Amino acid sequence: MKIVDLDEHYLSLYLVCLEDWSDESKEAGRHKEIWYHRMKDKGLRVKLAFDDHGALGGMIQYIPIECSFVGGSDLYVINCIWVHGHSQGRGSFQHRGMGTALLEAAEVDARSLGAKGLVAWGLLIPVFMRASWFKKHGYRKVDRQGIRVLLWKPFASDAIPPQWLPSKGKPSLDPNKVTVTAFCNGWCPAQNLALERAKRASAESQFADKVVFREIDTFDRADILRLGIADALFVNNKEVRTGPPPSYEKIRKLIDKQAKKIRSPITGDGT
Ligand SMILES: CC(C)(COP(=O)(O)OP(=O)(O)OC[C@H]1O[C@@H](n2cnc3c(N)ncnc32)[C@H](O)[C@@H]1OP(=O)(O)O)[C@@H](O)C(=O)NCCC(=O)NCCS
Repeated sequence: MKIVDLDEHYLSLYLVCLEDWSDESKEAGRHKEIWYHRMKDKGLRVKLAFDDHGALGGMIQYIPIECSFVGGSDLYVINCIWVHGHSQGRGSFQHRGMGTALLEAAEVDARSLGAKGLVAWGLLIPVFMRASWFKKHGYRKVDRQGIRVLLWKPFASDAIPPQWLPSKGKPSLDPNKVTVTAFCNGWCPAQNLALERAKRASAESQFADKVVFREIDTFDRADILRLGIADALFVNNKEVRTGPPPSYEKIRKLIDKQAKKIRSPITGDGT
């Protein structure tokens, strides 16, 4: 197995999280590409894992905490580690030590860059980014928001523990309309996919004059700090779970349900 830094040759594969076989990757738009070009000069690190036959099977990306969706300083945050696990396309590379090798390479790299520790996030439920996997690799839980856990591995005795940024509430709503709001940082194709589906569903002709779609760019750290949100989708005040991304039909139904509650100024009913 070989772990190498991302180079231009593999950029397009990295941008679709190695899922070049997936139509969903195309549906997710260009948000990650735009994010990559904005972030690459701000300390983004990407490593790729190749198996002994030279096949690309995994990736890890991490950024300085000061540019991330996590509070803290002098640490790096892993946005995402992904060892391709689908049978489609390049097939599954999981359970062969690739994830461990990627994580160890990121730790060595972060140390050499002078970071005082590496931070990971994970979920308490076994859907994706399992917190337990990081625990097995020596990461300790430091903060929790619902099922989202923040973990870290300090490298220095004076490292300060990271924390989740406080959520600052809900989006502002248009009166007498359904307001669909997508907060978008850009780094995650799954979040970008939810945004693109919500944008398309909001634009359906049956929702004309009833639905407004707002996309809020949260690339800048100042915006994340102000809003307390990096990536999220709301239909009015209700947050829609976006991991894994909801189907187009599910999002359309959520919008439709709210649209039916809007009273028409002409007929006085929901038509
Ligand atoms: C978590 C993840 C990165 C682990 O990658 P991996 O390459 O499968 O990890 P490893 O092979 O190093 O370790 C996994 C398991 O294989 C075992 N293992 C390690 N080397 C092994 C080997 N040579 N042979 C057999 N088993 C091995 C480990 O003990 C570990 O056991 P566990 O499943 O009980 O934890 C991977 O499963 C993944 O990408 N999951 C999805 C994460 C995700 O959703 N990311 C996107 C979020 S945006």
